[in-house]
Amino acid sequence: MKICIINGPNLNLLGKRETSIYGSKSFETYFADLQKKHPTVGIHYFQSNIEGEIIDMLHEVGFDFDGIVLNAAAYTHTSIGIGDAVKAIRTNVVEVHISNVLSREDYRHKSYIAPNCKGLIMGFGLHGYQLAIEALIASNKD
Ligand code: DQA
Repeated sequence: MKICIINGPNLNLLGKRETSIYGSKSFETYFADLQKKHPTVGIHYFQSNIEGEIIDMLHEVGFDFDGIVLNAAAYTHTSIGIGDAVKAIRTNVVEVHISNVLSREDYRHKSYIAPNCKGLIMGFGLHGYQLAIEALIASNKD
């Protein structure tokens, strides 16, 4: 089974960035633990601060991977292009947010991506990525 985690802009700064909201662990540290917890799943990781690169990666993995975990970060609230890419591909996508975006500023309440996703997980910190992977594993068995 192959799952790709795609992180959007500024998520390369996890562990250093607004730690009261996003925590003090880097994604690389979290990712190593996640891979150890799921040794039978091929979990790939891609991060970009560039909208088109995220779209390119969705196209690349979106027809033969078994699942995609997407935290498009700020692009969630602005990018019709990423929303369209999620709609265009075949692989199920789970949208993840580390914070509960609905409890934050109004401009974070809109997602151009969620309507095209299998599901949405938010507010559980980095643990949300593991929850998304478990949900994708379970739905692949259905
Ligand atoms: C985020 C929430 C977004 O609103 C924000 O722009 C981010 C991170 C989250 O994971 O909580 O960069 O996607």
